[in-house]
Amino acid sequence: MTKILVTGGAGYVGSHACKALAAAGYEPVVFDSLIAGHDWAVNWGPLEVGDLLDRDRIAAVVQEYRPEGVIHFASFAYVGESVTNPGKYWRNNVTGAINLLDELVACGAPPIVFSSSCTVYGMSDADYLSETLPIAPINPYGNTKRAIEIMLSDYEVATGMRHTILRYFNAAGCDAEGEIGEDHDPETHLIPLALAAAAKDRDRLSIFGTDYPTTDGTCIRDYIHVTDLADAHVRAVGQLLEGAKSNVFNLGAGEGYSVRDVVDAVGRAVGADLPVQDADRRAGDPARLVADISHARDVLGWSPEHSSLDNIVTTAWNWYRSRRQIVGA
Ligand code: UFG
Repeated sequence: MTKILVTGGAGYVGSHACKALAAAGYEPVVFDSLIAGHDWAVNWGPLEVGDLLDRDRIAAVVQEYRPEGVIHFASFAYVGESVTNPGKYWRNNVTGAINLLDELVACGAPPIVFSSSCTVYGMSDADYLSETLPIAPINPYGNTKRAIEIMLSDYEVATGMRHTILRYFNAAGCDAEGEIGEDHDPETHLIPLALAAAAKDRDRLSIFGTDYPTTDGTCIRDYIHVTDLADAHVRAVGQLLEGAKSNVFNLGAGEGYSVRDVVDAVGRAVGADLPVQDADRRAGDPARLVADISHARDVLGWSPEHSSLDNIVTTAWNWYRSRRQIVGA
């Protein structure tokens, strides 16, 4: 079976990608520190616990499995924390990526899919963001993503290692079969926090900013179901293994929803209104981030199939409810 090394494969998007890889006939080999990931989320191949900052450890795993392809998810991903502690992000995300790439080069330079983020577009005021726009992140987390995108090009020039960069918009929703789902600690994302408020596990949801230049004054985001993200990774790695050239793709649903739209959808899914409170803007939030996904449609042959807002929220609610029973939230 074709082995795919999946760094961060015990995390939210990574674990959904592993499930999709296995369904497509690949063997996902997970390398994860378990700092943010969960061993219960690794069900479709071996788990090698390790940190990319431990160069000997990633070297040993790469040499043991000799993967034919790689998907690199492992990263710290809290924008706010990256602002207050940039060193943590540069060290982990960038040094970790350097260690990984160097060990891959030493093992034949297999092609790599890299998890990037729409945050690299910064405060662009384009209605639909396309991959051809200049990238200009406005926080250290986004800067680390930009740095790794650039690094991948430099490594390709030097070694021929091909790559696919996937820029996610807002990953959301959970596995339809309820095997895996979103579980961050701390949780900062809108949908799980709104679900917690609707379930009365939180007093209320704060709406960060109601004076944006949008239809209802709240921020607009492009929510993409994690199962659709996972499918794009399988396509991207498959095309690389067939010799595709390096490329970059936006992954979103191509549609924007406001924070209030999400609140309404959560109310519908849970069957209960949720207490909300208008709050100040959160620093660094662009008013609108919506993807132009035509490039992924044309080249990856991908389209979002699971990303209606109601399906995203319903699958997230099913997962939230099942975890709540287990952890007794
Ligand atoms: N929001 C609230 N209240 C909350 C939480 C969020 O109103 O309690 C709002 C935010 O202000 C934002 C929207 O809901 O307008 C979505 O916020 P999330 O925190 O769920 O997601 P972000 O758009 O901030 O973050 C996502 C990814 C990051 C990525 C970023 C790029 O999770 O990894 O997009 O901007 F960097």
